[in-house]
Amino acid sequence: MATNNNTDFLPINGTDYIEFYVGNAKQAAHYYQAAFGFQPLAYAGLETGLKDRTSYVLRQGKITFVFTSSLLPGSPIAEHCKLHGDGIKVIALWVDDARMSHEETVKRGAISCQEPSTSCDGNGKVVSSGIHTYGETLHVFVERKNYKGVFLPGFVKWDPVYRPPSAGLKYVDHIVGNVGWGEMETWVKFYHDVMGFNQLISFDDKDISTEYTALMSKVMASSNMYIKFPINEPAKGKKKSQIEEYIEFYQGAGAQHVAMATDNILETVSELKNRGVEFLRVPDSYYDTLMERVGKIDESLAPIREHGILVDRDEDGYLLQIFSKPVQDRPTVFFEIIQRKGAKSFGKGNFKALFESIELEQGKRGTL
Ligand code: FE2
Repeated sequence: MATNNNTDFLPINGTDYIEFYVGNAKQAAHYYQAAFGFQPLAYAGLETGLKDRTSYVLRQGKITFVFTSSLLPGSPIAEHCKLHGDGIKVIALWVDDARMSHEETVKRGAISCQEPSTSCDGNGKVVSSGIHTYGETLHVFVERKNYKGVFLPGFVKWDPVYRPPSAGLKYVDHIVGNVGWGEMETWVKFYHDVMGFNQLISFDDKDISTEYTALMSKVMASSNMYIKFPINEPAKGKKKSQIEEYIEFYQGAGAQHVAMATDNILETVSELKNRGVEFLRVPDSYYDTLMERVGKIDESLAPIREHGILVDRDEDGYLLQIFSKPVQDRPTVFFEIIQRKGAKSFGKGNFKALFESIELEQGKRGTL
């Protein structure tokens, strides 16, 4: 596969926001405030003139989450929730030119979901456009260089009294997509050809398999590396993989997890646990040989083991990571907390231990 070195036809400044379609945006917003430390930012709903939906916008560091629910039966938002449960609908990308982003990607084969349009209020104007990606997920391009408001035109500042403190989450490190059997190459090609991304790393079922389950994964990244999208597909194992479980309960392809970076994973995870976030726990034996596998690290082993944090090393350094349990009733979307100390990879050395702990959970759900 040729790289897209010289031709950055889609320069992206970062993740603009991630919009979740949920059954009850008001309660979801409260959960992300209370459990994850997101700060209230903006609101749109009946009081701002909308008739069909409510959205709450929260922010922590550079991470912006939007929770949207339908006020009406049968609307596209309601239908999305009915089919998929709570899930990620929009992965919005911050660009300097939303018209050009649309034109360049559609020219290369993207299917448009939103023609470029300008919205304005007293704080300026925002140009946005959008294209389809895997499943029913969308990429919206947001051009906000001429806008000074809290979020987007149509939203008002949301300033409640209830404001639990931040948990130290800084930015979106990567967002993983799960696609169906045999579809990984299709979406790898989409991100390469249509969006100009390059492939960083691939794993096959020999890297990522346990006694029971397997998956294949390739990581696609924008040329400035600000956006990293690993794409997973299931691989044949003796039993049902976590990717198959996701696709069954999500009723198709979708975003599986958002990895959020912190500068101090011990403090962040301790805080999140105190607030009720549940994490996967690898078997204790993982820690017996950890230091032999990863060598010297700055952190002491005791708190790493206590919190169940995983460590992996690559040629550039090491990383610390931990994965939450699913955050809604269906075993679909979850979060990763990651702290990078030089490492640019995604924790390949942890996959086996991690999958064994996921299988323990799948066993409890009767979905293995
Ligand atoms: Fe990840």
